[in-house]
Amino acid sequence: MSKGQLIAFEGIDGTGKSTQIKLLADYLRAQGREVVETREPTDSSYGRRIRELYVNRSTCTPEEELELFIQDRRLHVQELIAPALATGSVVLTDRYYYSTAAYQGASGLEPAEILARNNFAPKPDLVILLTMPPELSAERIRIGRGEQPNAFEQLDALRKTAAIFAAFTDSCICRVDATQSVSAVHEQIQHVWNELSKNAPC
Ligand code: TYD
Repeated sequence: MSKGQLIAFEGIDGTGKSTQIKLLADYLRAQGREVVETREPTDSSYGRRIRELYVNRSTCTPEEELELFIQDRRLHVQELIAPALATGSVVLTDRYYYSTAAYQGASGLEPAEILARNNFAPKPDLVILLTMPPELSAERIRIGRGEQPNAFEQLDALRKTAAIFAAFTDSCICRVDATQSVSAVHEQIQHVWNELSKNAPC
């Protein structure tokens, strides 16, 4: 039994996951909790190979791409997530297996099969799924970050990805409207965390 809690932040690109992770991490540390902030893809050799795909996705098949994300997660779980949970930390991860189901699902693989291939990974206690229309997300990537969208971020792909995220029904998933202000989103996430802590005191 793990002593800590695992919270995954999910959603299409440009929804503000990393900003919200930082705010929640500060809030939890102020409450005296040990917090580990992490992200996927990681910096492992698999993660580096995945980043090469941002530039040219056609260098591997959808199945090979899926395998890279899964191998990257295996290492992430073994080396960081499981040990941190065992010592009672709250682990906040920027993306987890719902991203794989949604993004690689958008490339034509079956989301349910993708989830089944992740059964080695600990189930999150909470998934904060930040929601936003894909058109707005694409706009934020282009204008807000001054970046050209990468291969995973093209509008058409984002639309498919958002539709798969929208179809998940797991009870650990809590949807938060990411079109609100940063502080409004943070307050809502704080509230969700406080409710979770009441039901399963930590
Ligand atoms: P992102 O969160 O943007 O990471 P970074 O800020 O380090 O670039 O994730 C990179 C992209 O990878 C993003 O567009 C979603 C995609 N992705 C998948 O396609 N499958 C996955 O399993 C994960 C974790 C990410």
